[in-house]
Amino acid sequence: MTTDMIKDDGASAEAAGPAMVKAEGVHKAFGNLEVLKGIDLEVASGEVCCLIGPSGSGKSTFLRCINHLEKINAGRLYVAGDLVGYRQQGEKLYELRDHEVARKRRDIGMVFQRFNLFPHMTAVENIIEAPVQVKGMNKAAARERAHELLTRVGLADKASSYPSQLSGGQQQRVAIARALAMDPKLMLFDEPTSALDPELVGDVLDVMRDLAESGMTMIVVTHEMGFAREVGDSLVFMDGGVVVESGHPREVLTNPHHERTQSFLSKVL
Ligand SMILES: Nc1ncnc2c1ncn2[C@@H]1O[C@H](COP(=O)(O)OP(=O)(O)OP(=O)(O)O)[C@@H](O)[C@H]1O
Ligand SMILES: [Mg+2]
Repeated sequence: MTTDMIKDDGASAEAAGPAMVKAEGVHKAFGNLEVLKGIDLEVASGEVCCLIGPSGSGKSTFLRCINHLEKINAGRLYVAGDLVGYRQQGEKLYELRDHEVARKRRDIGMVFQRFNLFPHMTAVENIIEAPVQVKGMNKAAARERAHELLTRVGLADKASSYPSQLSGGQQQRVAIARALAMDPKLMLFDEPTSALDPELVGDVLDVMRDLAESGMTMIVVTHEMGFAREVGDSLVFMDGGVVVESGHPREVLTNPHHERTQSFLSKVL
């Protein structure tokens, strides 16, 4: 074995596998407001990348670009080696049609701050909706899978509960199970615990930790620095629409190089 094959405890996560997400000079503006000003970022397959930064720095916008919910204005964005939103033929880029975008979006699970469960459906019905309607999965098989997923997120006994009968943390775990039901290659989390009462945060983070350990590639926008430190392979600090600093979470958290990172961390740690 040569030395460059030795993997050094997460610090070289970028080198661990092919890039699941690759951003090169990604720009995004809303009218005159330039929100992303050239994001460069690489997330390897199996990596957990935690994204932090002040309000308005563009974190949610960047996740929405990865998930094809926003179109970028310049740069290149790849998921699993494919350009997001475009097909490249020679030197030319062709915009994908809506149904092609929808098909690609299926490979990416997204969990938001507010649990967007369908209120008129039980936990199981929420989970089987997309596999049955979008993928044409057999309903009995989808239900069986939904029960497995509910067990995985610690909610085996809540299969028939409606969202209004569940706590925020339980709803969020159903939302994670629902995303997993589509067998995503990549999971995006946008502040999944920040709307929760403090005592409910831990159960959701535990589910996310298990998911990370199972090898899922994850990008997690979070204020939970403990989670970032323990579970993250990389930590990215964004400010003003650019990546200011990134590296191993322990390194960035204990020894931030940039003044802006230091100032942000002094407020949140
Ligand atoms: N659809 C939109 N139209 C116009 N401006 C938008 C839109 N979405 C976001 N913005 C603006 O883009 C900027 C970045 O927003 P974004 O939601 O990405 O920030 P964020 O880092 O996720 O912040 P927070 O920590 O508060 O969630 C903000 O100034 C916001 O007002
Ligand atoms: Mg946000």
